[in-house]
Amino acid sequence: MKAIILAGGRGSRLYPLTLVASKQLQAVYDKPMIYYPLTVLMAAGIREFCVITTPEDQPRFQALLGDGRQWGISIEYRVQERPAGIAQAFLIAADFIAGEAVTLALGDNIFVGGDAIPRALAEFSGGALIFAYRVTNPRDYGVVEFDAEGRVLSLEEKPREPRSHYAVPGLYIFDSDVVGIARGLKPSARGELEITDVNRAYMDAGRLKVRRLSRGFAWLDAGTSAALQEAAAFIETVERRQGIKFGCPEEAALQRGFLNLEAFAALTQMMPDCEYRHYLEAVAAEARDHALVMTRDAPGERTG
Ligand code: DAU
Repeated sequence: MKAIILAGGRGSRLYPLTLVASKQLQAVYDKPMIYYPLTVLMAAGIREFCVITTPEDQPRFQALLGDGRQWGISIEYRVQERPAGIAQAFLIAADFIAGEAVTLALGDNIFVGGDAIPRALAEFSGGALIFAYRVTNPRDYGVVEFDAEGRVLSLEEKPREPRSHYAVPGLYIFDSDVVGIARGLKPSARGELEITDVNRAYMDAGRLKVRRLSRGFAWLDAGTSAALQEAAAFIETVERRQGIKFGCPEEAALQRGFLNLEAFAALTQMMPDCEYRHYLEAVAAEARDHALVMTRDAPGERTG
């Protein structure tokens, strides 16, 4: 499974913040926004990424994320000349997808909690898979209606009269047919290649599955100043309460074994003396203790 993170767009709703750095580079509490979707995908085991940005912002994303080697992953970059729709990502990144299954994540979507995403990725077996999340304002999103068996009945993009309270979050899993489907799309009334039309094509072919994200799972999108502030406050509250962080690619890399403890320590040593570094050092110490316990308790390892 490969992943595309779409991080282009005008960011006009965050003006003037977006005059010098795109929306997905803005801070959500203590990390750049794009770290959150990236980390969720890494924690689910994905190692091959393509980040799509505006032409102006590409160097800034490259400065932040590099080629991914430092985290044991690979990151390629592509440019979207103008925001012609989310589904254009599959045309821009067709050579990256190269006949494999792919996850698309929107760079301003933040997911916190649960194992629904890693589980869905591990169990994915073709067609398309979307998630459904109950919201008070479905009109602002793609809206999915489904029956008790989880069969999708309808899908609409920002409907005036939503048929359900379930929004479709910006994280989608597709088989490689998605490129052909995107090639056949016509721009919508607002002139965009719509992700909802891609999902609808899978629905019409009987190849779309939906999974409801449970109570307690947090899905936030940080598209407006108020939403950005709310997302930051939410992350701060949970992080401070639990003494853990969300959205640390280094931590996901260690947990998934993309980096060993030595490489991880080398990475943290290059960081300035700051809370982020202290956190990662504590993560490493815990992993080292855990590894020691595992070695001590492993059958056949005892000498006495
Ligand atoms: O957040 C989930 C929602 O995202 C879904 O429920 C909707 O079905 C989907 O259409 C989308 O709705 P938005 O109104 O949030 O889309 P927006 O145009 O704001 O774009 C979402 C992100 O994708 C944003 O960070 C910018 C980026 N983007 C968007 C477009 C249209 C691009 O990079 N390029 C684009 O061409």
